[in-house]
Amino acid sequence: MAIVLKDICKQYGGQTVLDHFSFEFQEHKSYCIMAPSGQGKTTLLHILMGIVNADSGTIFGIDQYRIAPVFQENRLCENLSVAANIKMVSSEKLPSQKLSVLLDQFLLPGSMKKPVRTLSGGMKRRVALIRALCSEGNLFLFDEPFKGLDLSTKETVMHIVKQAIEGKTAIWVSHDPSEAEFMGSEIVKID
Ligand SMILES: Nc1ncnc2c1ncn2[C@@H]1O[C@H](COP(=O)(O)OP(=O)(O)OP(=O)(O)O)[C@@H](O)[C@H]1O
Ligand SMILES: [Mg+2]
Repeated sequence: MAIVLKDICKQYGGQTVLDHFSFEFQEHKSYCIMAPSGQGKTTLLHILMGIVNADSGTIFGIDQYRIAPVFQENRLCENLSVAANIKMVSSEKLPSQKLSVLLDQFLLPGSMKKPVRTLSGGMKRRVALIRALCSEGNLFLFDEPFKGLDLSTKETVMHIVKQAIEGKTAIWVSHDPSEAEFMGSEIVKID
């Protein structure tokens, strides 16, 4: 089912962030939201996630989905291990062996038991991505998912994420048109 946004408006303290934003996101397609910094990309994702209320406008179709988010800031449990963070939202019991393979693919070998607080920024970003991909969600909402990764790591991670979201519904944010092109996502600009 499509997700239809109609005339979504949001202000913060008199400042207009979203001004009658309308768009129809089709199922099984991916979309890359682009706009300059401070133009409401994160706000739009938060409205889709249901953690921020729009001032006005309507959203149809979102209830059909379970959301798998990657927040702009990772929102991991810093004192829990990598495995605990991922297993917290994963379907049934994610076998440790499968998780271990995933961590290897994401260039995080041997990090299963490490507390998240001991990881670098780029490592945390990858844990946040794995957590979303292992969750039971069927609507991926990713806010600048590849931020903070060096070029080589980013290339590896983007290949995996591209495969993982193939044929799924995904709405994600980026500042880099080449990322959108690589992922085969339709660019949606917020005016
Ligand atoms: N909770 C809040 N209270 C007040 N103002 C807010 C709040 N959240 C966001 N804003 C303001 O709304 C505007 C849009 O913020 P938002 O985070 O959606 O931008 P963005 O497009 O995601 O930017 P960036 O590319 O820097 O992440 C900004 O001016 C920001 O200061
Ligand atoms: Mg943002």
